[in-house]
Amino acid sequence: MTESRPNNPASDQSGLLLEAFDAQLFRETSETALAKLEKHLSDQSIRGLELTDPAKLSEAAKALMTTERERVAAFDEEKLAGIIDLYIRTGIQVHSPGYMGRQFSGVVPLAGVIDFVSSVVNQPASFYEAAQLPNAVERIMADELNRFIGWDPARFTMVTTSGGSLANLTALLAARNQKLPGYWSEGGSSLRGQPRPAIAVGADVHYSVARAAGVMGIGEAQLVRLPLNSRGQICVADARPALEAAERQNLKVFCLVASAGSTSVGAFDPIDELAVLAREKDLWLHVDGAHGASLLVSDTLRAKLRGIDKADSLTWDAHKMMFVPAPCTMLFYRDKEASLTAFRQKASYVFDEEPDIYTAYDSGGKNFECTKRPMIMTLWSLWAMYGPALFAEKIEYLCQLTEEAHAIVRAEPDFETLHRPEANILCFRYHPAGVRKEEVHRLQIAIRNSVKLRGNFFISKVNVDGVAALRVVMMNHQITGEHFRMLISEIRRTGQDLLSSEAATETA
Ligand SMILES: Cc1ncc(COP(=O)(O)O)c(C=O)c1O
Repeated sequence: MTESRPNNPASDQSGLLLEAFDAQLFRETSETALAKLEKHLSDQSIRGLELTDPAKLSEAAKALMTTERERVAAFDEEKLAGIIDLYIRTGIQVHSPGYMGRQFSGVVPLAGVIDFVSSVVNQPASFYEAAQLPNAVERIMADELNRFIGWDPARFTMVTTSGGSLANLTALLAARNQKLPGYWSEGGSSLRGQPRPAIAVGADVHYSVARAAGVMGIGEAQLVRLPLNSRGQICVADARPALEAAERQNLKVFCLVASAGSTSVGAFDPIDELAVLAREKDLWLHVDGAHGASLLVSDTLRAKLRGIDKADSLTWDAHKMMFVPAPCTMLFYRDKEASLTAFRQKASYVFDEEPDIYTAYDSGGKNFECTKRPMIMTLWSLWAMYGPALFAEKIEYLCQLTEEAHAIVRAEPDFETLHRPEANILCFRYHPAGVRKEEVHRLQIAIRNSVKLRGNFFISKVNVDGVAALRVVMMNHQITGEHFRMLISEIRRTGQDLLSSEAATETA
């Protein structure tokens, strides 16, 4: 290779580069953003989503763009203010008590400050030399949180991944590569003549697990869906015969996935009992705690994950119930050797054949991403300031609030409760007398869409036993029982309007 001389000395550069990288302008623009965010955070009005026509929103976004490609410095304060305002206004209002819809959380603002620092210092986290502090504190946080899991401190490990879906895929890869050793290099041909690999899951498992089965070449059809009991948990008594039926169908189940907080109703599978079954059948036990693993930090709620110390791996999203910006996911393995089996690559530009004290801290061998956000920084910073108390207090409040919401729904004769909440997710239906069973499904969907469009509240919907239900996820400690009562009134009003306009159309 020949070296060439740089032919673009700094003196030739226009003011554009100088301005775009100017530190003082950075401070001034940050202050503009901070003032707007302070106002946004202090606004406690009850509001859902301002749903905008995508074509109109694209027009508004285009109006903020410079049309000609000017080669001169062109910072425009008004344009910046317009971009920030549009961004805030059109987003889901996660900090408002009207937001009860999904598992994304309003973040602890301090975590946003740390994320802002991460964006500027830009330290991609897969390799120690690029992100020293993130890699060091990843281990500290692993130790801190393992106190609640209970694995052997000398054997366990944790790696961060960009979201719970990727953590589930990664854990399932490790499980498959350990239980079916030839698969990684030879693919499906390594199994010639042997039973087809399969994964056992609860019937309500998050779709990312089914997607992982497709990605891994296992095939979505090779998911053995275990029946659920009336609480939405895997029914252990039915699981054994279901696994044995799978064996008779020439399937080799290598992994059992339990949910710790199912997405639909927030049910916690009985990990303790499933661990016995997994051991007996030689299955890797993966716990998808993307939503509910955070309950481990609470003394009063930890028991929901009883038996977690017997699992092989655990997905834990901090961007859900630990209230940090997304993504921030941790994948824990009981055995650090197993974590190295998920991926196996040689790449001399990043992986050292003989790690030194620095490269021993690299996580690149254990995660799919090469460039990875230093996501642990937000969580660690909050933990450093507040310890587990901040999270425990908020999670306990949210679970208690959801219990209260359940009691409120139960007391309303025109509403139907579907389950006792296990955590902070509650599903129910508006079902006044006289509405036929077959109409209930459509009515819930219509109510959800109308409430969303009206913009006072943001809730979601999910099918429970094949029929749509309204779903609330309590993520904001500023929500009170009173706010929930207001939502119930709005749902009733909306339902009545929809039913009377349908009746009017039928008689017309
Ligand atoms: C139980 C469960 N697993 C996995 C996921 C996926 O996590 P992520 O959205 O972080 O990819 C979710 C998200 O809602 C979930 O509820």
